[in-house]
Amino acid sequence: MRERLEELLKDARAEIEKSGVKDSLLTVKSKYLGRKGALQGFFKDLGSLAADERKRAGELINTVKNSLESEIETRLSAIHAAEMARRLKTEKLDVTLPGRSRPLGSIHPVTQTLYEVEEIFTSLGFGIAEGPEVEVDYYNFEALNIPRDHPARDMQDTFYINKEVLLRTHTSPVQIRVMEEQPPPLRIIAPGTVYRRDSDVTHTPMFHQVEGFMVDTNITFSNLKGVLTHFLHSLFGENIEVRFRPSFFPFTEPSAEVDIRCVICKGKSSACRVCKGSGWLEVLGSGMIHPEVFRSVKYDPEKVSGFAFGIGIERIAMLKYGIDDIRLFFENDVRFLAQY
Ligand code: DAH
Repeated sequence: MRERLEELLKDARAEIEKSGVKDSLLTVKSKYLGRKGALQGFFKDLGSLAADERKRAGELINTVKNSLESEIETRLSAIHAAEMARRLKTEKLDVTLPGRSRPLGSIHPVTQTLYEVEEIFTSLGFGIAEGPEVEVDYYNFEALNIPRDHPARDMQDTFYINKEVLLRTHTSPVQIRVMEEQPPPLRIIAPGTVYRRDSDVTHTPMFHQVEGFMVDTNITFSNLKGVLTHFLHSLFGENIEVRFRPSFFPFTEPSAEVDIRCVICKGKSSACRVCKGSGWLEVLGSGMIHPEVFRSVKYDPEKVSGFAFGIGIERIAMLKYGIDDIRLFFENDVRFLAQY
């Protein structure tokens, strides 16, 4: 038995030596030490030996078993160490290499303008409200004193989803939604996306507005003038000339459109393409909130008054950045956008 064991030990050692990877080493391990392995056969044979021999033979088999186990363990650690050394060598990371730079995006000029407008009004204490882009007739028109037969409701201008549901054509419905929910005093702006069936160099079917309104017991037209003049001076510079021109909106009375001096020709060129020689550029609509609007939100027009305004963000951005085609904003050509 001793000889057979020595033979086995020799074979096993040779195979351990040959095993270069973990898997083949484990195969060797089970071949010799496993439950159906070669050593197990020797243990079985013990039964046929005489008692005194059995003890010595048992010890011998155990010695062989122990040394095989520890040799396999040693070999396994060596394989691990070699694998680790190989990975350390091949997978090393040079942290001193310069990084790869990625092209950085920039904030869209429309968004930049929107942020700027929001910043000016929030610093005056205005809060920000939002309303749905899919709106019902009542909020978009009816409650804003735009009657059934008003041309603004024309299929030509409005995207209808059905007879009652539409894409809002302006942010003014947010006035109604806020006033329905909250009592005065109110100082709110409502930025958002609006939709109209319109498309040329100054119109896109989707664009952005900021609605604003202020309601309290003694709000007058001079509050309107003060706030909007401050706004335009903050946006276009203290020296820009501002003009209030009588106009009409169903939801305000009186109403005014507000112009600034032409940013291009400063009012000095009768041939200016931007102001068409008028010297002025219209930048927003405004007015004192109509008593009918207050009635539709159950405010008493005898007790409260307020002003409202609506600003087209793309229009402001075009004037600020000297862009002459509104469609450039939405083509999303990075060469265009990256300039702002
Ligand atoms: N809603 C108007 C539009 O989209 C803009 C506007 C004008 C809003 C006058 C107002 C306002 O609040 O007072 O053309």
